[in-house]
Amino acid sequence: MNFTSIAIDGPAGAGKSTLARKLAEKLGYIYVDTGAIYRTVALKVLWEKADPADPAQVVPLLEGLEIHMGYEDGAQKMYLEGEDVSGAIRRHKVSGAASQVSAIPEVRSFLLEFQRKLARESSVVMDGRDIGTVVLPNADVKIFLTAAPEARARRRLLELEQRGETADFDTILRDIKERDYQDEHRPIAPLKQAADAVLLDTTDLDLGQSMSRLLALVKEKIGP
Ligand code: DC
Repeated sequence: MNFTSIAIDGPAGAGKSTLARKLAEKLGYIYVDTGAIYRTVALKVLWEKADPADPAQVVPLLEGLEIHMGYEDGAQKMYLEGEDVSGAIRRHKVSGAASQVSAIPEVRSFLLEFQRKLARESSVVMDGRDIGTVVLPNADVKIFLTAAPEARARRRLLELEQRGETADFDTILRDIKERDYQDEHRPIAPLKQAADAVLLDTTDLDLGQSMSRLLALVKEKIGP
């Protein structure tokens, strides 16, 4: 059986998850939010009151780590030790910790096979930071989705407010820039555009416009 894979990479807040999810729905593929998997590892580290920046504390937790993924009404759900943590992993504190644990090589190699297996078993739209460069270097379509940090901070603020979290723009913008820097400068699998990825900048596009552009790019590569 030949499955198709679409890799969507880019920084936080560029609209990756919303667009990737909608795209998967349209094509009838499985949507895989790989950031959610890193976030679940980070949550485990926080549960254990370990330091997410310290490999010596994080790596031992990987052994026996019980992470599962599931789908409910098309939405990806994450389970940690059997508990549905899909809401908990979205908390602001978990974002920073996820970026920190994702810089640890053992964490990345631990999750690599987990992600590749999903793409071997079905057609996927997978979003993350290193999908086109490392996880699925032979993906049929590679998109690098980005937007100016200010536009991304505005979107993140709205998202947090809608979830009832309080936050302020300047803090979010600073965190976004910090996380970009961390993700782009880590020695292993840094966030960067794959040589054969198509760049899509959504700074001045709303969701509908971004979706039309994305669909057009995908159709160009894999046909209608
Ligand atoms: O997309 P997100 O904000 O949910 O991702 C959380 C963190 O996980 C992000 O700071 C970088 C990391 N990540 C990664 O290193 N590789 C991926 N494929 C996906 C996410």
